[in-house]
Amino acid sequence: MTVGVAILGSTGSIGRTTLEVLGRHRDRFHVVALTAGANAELLEEQARAWRPAYVGLANGAGGRCLIEAATRSDVRVVVNGIVGAAGLEATLAALRAGKRVALANKETLVIAGDLVMRAAREGGGEIVPVDSEHSAVLQCLAGRGTDEVARLILTASGGPFRTWSPERTAAATVAEALNHPTWRMGRKITVDSATLVNKALEVIEAHYLFGMRYDQVDVVVHPQSVVHAFVEFVDGSTLAQVSFPTMELPILYALTHPERVPDAGTRRLDPVAAGALTFEAVDPARFPAYGLGRAAGQAGGTAPAVFNAANEVAVERFLAGQLPFGRIAAVIEAALTQHPSAPADTLAAVLAADAEGRRLAREAAC
Ligand SMILES: NC(=O)c1ccc[n+]([C@@H]2O[C@H](COP(=O)([O-])OP(=O)(O)OC[C@H]3O[C@@H](n4cnc5c(N)ncnc54)[C@H](OP(=O)(O)O)[C@@H]3O)[C@@H](O)[C@H]2O)c1
Repeated sequence: MTVGVAILGSTGSIGRTTLEVLGRHRDRFHVVALTAGANAELLEEQARAWRPAYVGLANGAGGRCLIEAATRSDVRVVVNGIVGAAGLEATLAALRAGKRVALANKETLVIAGDLVMRAAREGGGEIVPVDSEHSAVLQCLAGRGTDEVARLILTASGGPFRTWSPERTAAATVAEALNHPTWRMGRKITVDSATLVNKALEVIEAHYLFGMRYDQVDVVVHPQSVVHAFVEFVDGSTLAQVSFPTMELPILYALTHPERVPDAGTRRLDPVAAGALTFEAVDPARFPAYGLGRAAGQAGGTAPAVFNAANEVAVERFLAGQLPFGRIAAVIEAALTQHPSAPADTLAAVLAADAEGRRLAREAAC
């Protein structure tokens, strides 16, 4: 019997790569459900190729089809490749139904980390990260308890503006922000990589996934994107996970964890071809939104939900040509300043903070 997989966001970058990986592992997995946001044409093409039992188009229908796909009895693994807060309720439902969630949709953990971890505990579900940095941490931990860990160090490529002057970065165009030096990804995460918001989201994600305090999660800029994370253990030894940048490896590992299975599809690391690997500290002045995200994580409660919501609005506006790149951080800061953090212990509280963060950000972006 092969394992049934649901892919939420099958038309996106993570979704398409997941189908590529599954195509090489038909002896272990079969596709049960596919959902998309608005791209009906590609969804139809995928449905013809994979013949899943369930196909859902979320556009206009709210999140109902995501929950239906994620909680089917013939699904064991849910790959959540949705972008933004829209992925939250399906993650919660899947975990409550005892599924493994291969989680790319980091916004889910950022806005409702406590609720998500509780849903997993209560429902018997399991979260396995797809984000390459968190997959790297999981692989380095290899089952060791977090009490043996002193510190995590996540790497960041630094994005396309790492060496630009602040003035030039502030006026960067959409095409320049989407020109990521090492990764090919969806538009929103690519802009988040240019502001380093993506790394702030990942710090919060690591806090929840691995039970680390914020002062135990560091970030270092590593432009080659070959080392994905370091784990420093309490005895002073540090392990790293290394590969050429590809999402195929972390997706496959999230499907098969804790097992490793033979896979001929990804380019093997050749240290000589990888060349010199360099590391530098994050410059907080160059990436102001990164500091705002870390502070929101540390503040806790609804602050991360507001940070995320304001960022989603700011990025949407930037991509639509309505907000300069240099104002993204200011819009996030305005929303955070006006929203006093409150407890985030219910879904209603999280969704209200998300709505408020969006409202405040729209006001600030005018
Ligand atoms: N791409 C990567 O390499 C990468 C790496 C690490 C983590 N991640 C994370 O993975 C997630 C997905 O990223 P991505 O790059 O794959 O994004 P993407 O290419 O923009 O794909 C997003 C997917 O979500 C669907 N979608 C968007 N809004 C939706 C909604 N309201 N309801 C239901 N479905 C919706 C889209 O459907 P349509 O296109 O049909 O509208 C698409 O299938 C993000 O959280 C990102 O941070 C991505």
